[in-house]
Order: sequence, then structure tokens, then C-alpha cells
Amino acid sequence: MVLKIIKYPNPILKKKSEEVKEITPGIKELVLNIMAIMEEKKGIGLAAPQVGELKRIIIVQTTGSEKFTTGKGAEAFINPKILKKSKETEVMEEGCLSFPELFLEIKRAKTIEIEATNLEGTKIQFKADGIGARAFQHEIDHLDGILFIDKVGFWQKLKIKKTLKKSKF
Ligand code: CO
Repeated sequence: MVLKIIKYPNPILKKKSEEVKEITPGIKELVLNIMAIMEEKKGIGLAAPQVGELKRIIIVQTTGSEKFTTGKGAEAFINPKILKKSKETEVMEEGCLSFPELFLEIKRAKTIEIEATNLEGTKIQFKADGIGARAFQHEIDHLDGILFIDKVGFWQKLKIKKTLKKSKF
């Protein structure tokens, strides 16, 4: 299976992904392939729809979070859900592998609580903050067809237009 990252404005990126009912060998293979491409592109997160698979699977480089550090590096989260978001927000610059060369300042919750299923089929719950919280919010948005360009105001919209024109993707 050779995966390619789907770039904006491919309409797949705007679609809603489906729940994963069972962690089959095919799902595990897909996860390994997404991890490989994420590592190759040096991303800190990637969602299955970004490789054309409309399934609720995300990969996140979990070592970036202060509260959620397993030391395992990239990990897969199946059917991830945000249970709680802190009222406190934070603005940070973000990129997305589906938008090469575009970086935007995005406001997101500072701390979140997440529920997901891991590759062994176990339900897990945890907190994330810092870059980790940001990556989870960004990747989970992808599963609902929400992109980071949907979250900005007027001035950054101008920047998006300019960058997209320049990079011609
Ligand atoms: Co993205």
C-alpha cells in the first residue's frame, strides 16, 4: 500500500469520516502506513482522511505534550473524541501536511481531555496540553472535515489566498 498525502482543495478533506467498528489487520496495516508517511514528511499529526481513507483514525506524535508523554513517539488513536476542553485558550502557529507552506495562527483550547481506542482495542482516556493538545484538536477536526483554514479571521484569510496562489497546489 503506497499512500500519498491528499492536498487541499481535494474535496475528500471536507468529508466526515466513519467510526472504526473493529480493529482488523487491514486497519493495523493502514496505521503503519500512515505512521511511515508522517515520519517521512516530519509531521506531528496526520489523520486518515488526509491519505484518502475516511476512517476515524489519527496519528499523533505524543512526545510533544507535557501531560501526555508516553515516550513512544507516534501513536494511533481510533475513534478519538474530545470529552472536555479548557475555557483557557492559546494561540499558536500551526501547519498541516495537506497545505504545504501555509502556517496560520490558530486559537485552540489549552488543555483537553480525550477518549480513544488504542491499536490493542482498549479504550483509553487522557489529558493533553501544549503541542499535544493542539495536535489532537487539529487532527480530530480533520475527521469531521474541518480544516485549519476554516478557523481564521479576515487578515489570515488574505494570507491563505496569497500562499495558495504562490504554491499553486
Ligand atoms: Co492537518
